[in-house]
Amino acid sequence: MPQTRLLPPDDEGLADAVAILRAGGRVALPTETVYGLGADARSDAAVAGIFAAKDRPAFNPLIVHLPDLDAAEAFVELPAPARALAGAFWPGPMTLVLPLKPGAGIAPLVTAGLPTLALRVPAHPLARRLLRAFGGPIAAPSANPSGRVSATEARHVMAGLSGRIEAVIDGGACGVGLESTIFGFDADGGVRLLRPGAITAEAAAAVLGAPVLPPAPEAGITAPGQLLSHYAPSGSVRLNATAAREGEVLLGFGPVKGDLSLSETGDLTEAAARLFGLFHELDRRGAARIAVAPIPDEGLGHAINDRLRRAAAPRG
Ligand code: TXA
Ligand code: MG
Repeated sequence: MPQTRLLPPDDEGLADAVAILRAGGRVALPTETVYGLGADARSDAAVAGIFAAKDRPAFNPLIVHLPDLDAAEAFVELPAPARALAGAFWPGPMTLVLPLKPGAGIAPLVTAGLPTLALRVPAHPLARRLLRAFGGPIAAPSANPSGRVSATEARHVMAGLSGRIEAVIDGGACGVGLESTIFGFDADGGVRLLRPGAITAEAAAAVLGAPVLPPAPEAGITAPGQLLSHYAPSGSVRLNATAAREGEVLLGFGPVKGDLSLSETGDLTEAAARLFGLFHELDRRGAARIAVAPIPDEGLGHAINDRLRRAAAPRG
């Protein structure tokens, strides 16, 4: 069991992180969405270490992080709509699932045997510095035990994974607070929304000049985040609550005050950034029953409600 080091967000901390990654170890790193649990995407042994630390089902493939679009050319085919989205939204909170090039050198465990690879170019300055310094692809799922809430601060990573990974780079709180939007591509040029996030389907459609489709109905477990019980705090979750019932802690939004509030002013961006941090806070308080105020289903509200529905789903 390694003792998990908290690395400072400076040159020395990044050099230590690179050394750990080169040795096949795991480093949790900040991105603008959530913290990722990174390892060398070319090494099956290193990637196996991610699955072990998270207790993650091996059929759930990982996102690979790169410093820029140029780096992506070595690993995947980029159809025209993917290039358009990458040009508009990378670096940023968006992941593209693309056909893997044969012989690209990505460890088979990363894709869980799928012929596609999920790629993301993050915008967070520390993630970018680490990717440049490491000089290779970093596989990184969210830095939380499987099925639990994603980490948006270094201390959340520590709470879930301390003693199971080599290090965490402390980059403070994540700005977006929800995992990246994921888009997939059909052979006929259609673009599908596989997971909602800060880059909305509407914004993507505006770039594409064509509507974005829902996930293919037959996609099943190959579509992302489709394990229904996901993003869950320890307590039970009841949605669309305007008042707390006996024994519940109420998470408010806008006019619904609550014991804690996602955003007192009803701001969706603030609510997204605070959601997982509040779930972690409720875990710390030992909240057994959580009620959540209604969140408008528009813009970033789609992604917030997607995460809330998963948190409220029956636990598998
Ligand atoms: O914001 C994010 O996306 C964060 C940061 C760290 O980048 N990462 C993240 O990773 O949320 P993770 O592993 O928790 O979720 C990645 C999702 C999973 O639901 C997985 O099923 C899906 O991406 N995925 C990965 N590769 C895929 C593929 N080839 N085809 C379909 N889905 C894929
Ligand atoms: Mg995750």
